[in-house]
Amino acid sequence: MTLKYRRADFPDDFLFGVSTSAYQIEGHAYGGAGSTHWDTFAATPGNVVNAENGDIACDHYHRWSEDLDLIADGGFDVYRFSASWARVMPDGRSVNPEGLDFYDRLVEGMLERGIKPALTLYHWELPSALSDLGGWRNRDIAGWFADYAQALMARIGDRLWSTATINEFWCVSWLSHFLGHHAPGLRDIRAASRAIHHVLLAHGTATQAMRAAGHDNLGAVFNLEHSEPADASPEARAAADRYDAIYNGAFLGPVFNRAYPEPLLDGIAPHLPDDWQDDMDTIATPVDWAGINYYTRKLIAPAPGPFPSLAEVEGPLPKTYMGWEIYPDGLGQFLRRVARDHTGSLPLYVTENGMAAPDAFQDGQVDDADRIGYFNGHLAQVRGAIDDGIPVKGYFAWSLMDNYEWAFGYDKRFGMVHVDFDSLERTPKASYHAFKHALSRD
Ligand code: NOJ
Repeated sequence: MTLKYRRADFPDDFLFGVSTSAYQIEGHAYGGAGSTHWDTFAATPGNVVNAENGDIACDHYHRWSEDLDLIADGGFDVYRFSASWARVMPDGRSVNPEGLDFYDRLVEGMLERGIKPALTLYHWELPSALSDLGGWRNRDIAGWFADYAQALMARIGDRLWSTATINEFWCVSWLSHFLGHHAPGLRDIRAASRAIHHVLLAHGTATQAMRAAGHDNLGAVFNLEHSEPADASPEARAAADRYDAIYNGAFLGPVFNRAYPEPLLDGIAPHLPDDWQDDMDTIATPVDWAGINYYTRKLIAPAPGPFPSLAEVEGPLPKTYMGWEIYPDGLGQFLRRVARDHTGSLPLYVTENGMAAPDAFQDGQVDDADRIGYFNGHLAQVRGAIDDGIPVKGYFAWSLMDNYEWAFGYDKRFGMVHVDFDSLERTPKASYHAFKHALSRD
């Protein structure tokens, strides 16, 4: 099976990339990295399937060169990777030279192979020392994060193609402090409200610091999830709107429109820090681009109880191995809506899109036709949005290779390259070959 699209079907300057993140691939046990809240979350029974952690992961820390070869051989233009704060600063505040050296080698390796380096500064592994101080609940994190950004950027910033502050604000705040599914595993409206505000403030503060230091092409990555009312009642519509405000508007609103959406404020205003309004200018510091991670949609019904008073209802569409409905239309709708309501003419990138599948490894191969189909459906939406004049400038598949899928451990495989987690051998799947064919310039 092949991809329906080839490079030539997209504008000349359109970029194709792959995405990964540090904790999910590197092997956190190596190179003097400090403990993170994900290590302790995973070590606490019941949080992560089989209590698996990122100690070894894909051993990318030692195999990065082979992994960059795979990206280059696949014909991808950009590699979206993240740096681990706890590798760069094991205690969150003082620099580990070995950590800086690693990211320096990695960036050099990309440039040698003609790959554009797209850095994400925070993809979820907060140093435990900062977690002990309250982590995202502590307003000081804005300064700590800006210091970390400055230290790393001073070393590699001159050679990056782009830099994102935060990956998926909703996961950093709501998923981790209200739903409790990610580290630090809290379920508390005050913690969640403050985490929302502080992760936004950290984004704005670091963006200002990096801009002042002369760095450019700065952005941030938002995970957007389409929400539909589960039935035609006004109550279901209102619940879906609350879901949308928590998931999407909570972050796009402040960064691009200087305002939290009303349906969110109804729930979080009593719990936000005093004088939060004074931070909105910093939060809305101009950025150069916005990244959208898109995977699925949710059907939402009203539910009794305090804010947000909603429940997710199982939908009828085909699902991925994560149990997520496959709904490519939602991506096209978001690209149009984000440009219309938030980002205007700023470049938009689909910074993540992909699916988990059970992926049978047979005769040394993985025929992941379902994943190719998923990419086809979503690339069609990107193409359609471009036709409508939306400035979508690139598409990144999640993920280069199978990796640590957070609370789901290693069973949920998202990669275009299969990883044998015993031997750590990499084997490109059919989806990798499909992209390689689509991207070749012959
Ligand atoms: C979004 C996250 O950025 C990434 O870390 C995760 O593995 C994928 N979604 C799939 O769930």
